[in-house]
Amino acid sequence: MSGAARSVLVTGAASGIGYGIATLFARAGDHVAMLDRDQPKVEQAASQLRSEGGEVLPVAVDVRDAGSIRAAVEQAVRQHGRLDVAVSNAGVYPNTPVLEMDEDEWDLVLDTNLKGTYLVCRAAARQMVEQNKRASPGQGGKICAIASGAHQSARVGAAHYCASKAGLGAQDQRQRRLAWLRRRRRATRRLRRLSGGDQSDDPVGSIGPAGGHRAGGLFRLLG
Ligand SMILES: NC(=O)c1ccc[n+]([C@@H]2O[C@H](COP(=O)([O-])OP(=O)(O)OC[C@H]3O[C@@H](n4cnc5c(N)ncnc54)[C@H](O)[C@@H]3O)[C@@H](O)[C@H]2O)c1
Repeated sequence: MSGAARSVLVTGAASGIGYGIATLFARAGDHVAMLDRDQPKVEQAASQLRSEGGEVLPVAVDVRDAGSIRAAVEQAVRQHGRLDVAVSNAGVYPNTPVLEMDEDEWDLVLDTNLKGTYLVCRAAARQMVEQNKRASPGQGGKICAIASGAHQSARVGAAHYCASKAGLGAQDQRQRRLAWLRRRRRATRRLRRLSGGDQSDDPVGSIGPAGGHRAGGLFRLLG
């Protein structure tokens, strides 16, 4: 591995894609906090990575619970010093047609996939914004949320799942628009500099509260 070990947090790290992501970071020499609601399974997964020499920390967490997420981020920072990368991956995808689905199942999917991602990203971004005040510019951190192709198309039995991933997709659309506006602002400034005109207009600054873009710009969706 080249450079210093990064401190990484992955949710839903006990199995599947989350375990794969945690494995790749651990093998690259990074320090990984592995969060999952299934405590025995995440401890077993962490032992496996430790046996390969990985520096990993298993934490039992339900991503639907803001308090337990906050505590897990604090634990990761105590153990690994800071937080450089957060991957919001935990998700559920039961398959039930709408007419047979009860409200509890709808809530489980939306709370885990959509609200859980918001809670994880918020807790990670707060830590990153804090540590960025003490670090050189650009060292705040990176946040990634695992989306799905289901955010673009309805699927029988997956109305709740598609809705939850579409919610993540909507964040992505906003980030793309912000990135486009930033590029346009830079181009406008360059043009104004070349023509010697006024440089005060800031189209991005009018979109959200100060600092909002910086945290928002951390979000990146995959899937
Ligand atoms: N598998 C696919 O083909 C596929 C495709 C596109 C997107 N995704 C997305 O990738 C992510 C991972 O999918 P996977 O197939 O690896 O799933 P998986 O079921 O193998 O693993 C999900 C993990 O998340 C954990 N988890 C579930 N609810 C949780 C909660 N409330 N708090 C903490 N942990 C919780 C589970 O215990 C499990 O270990 C999901 O967000 C899913 O929507 C998967």
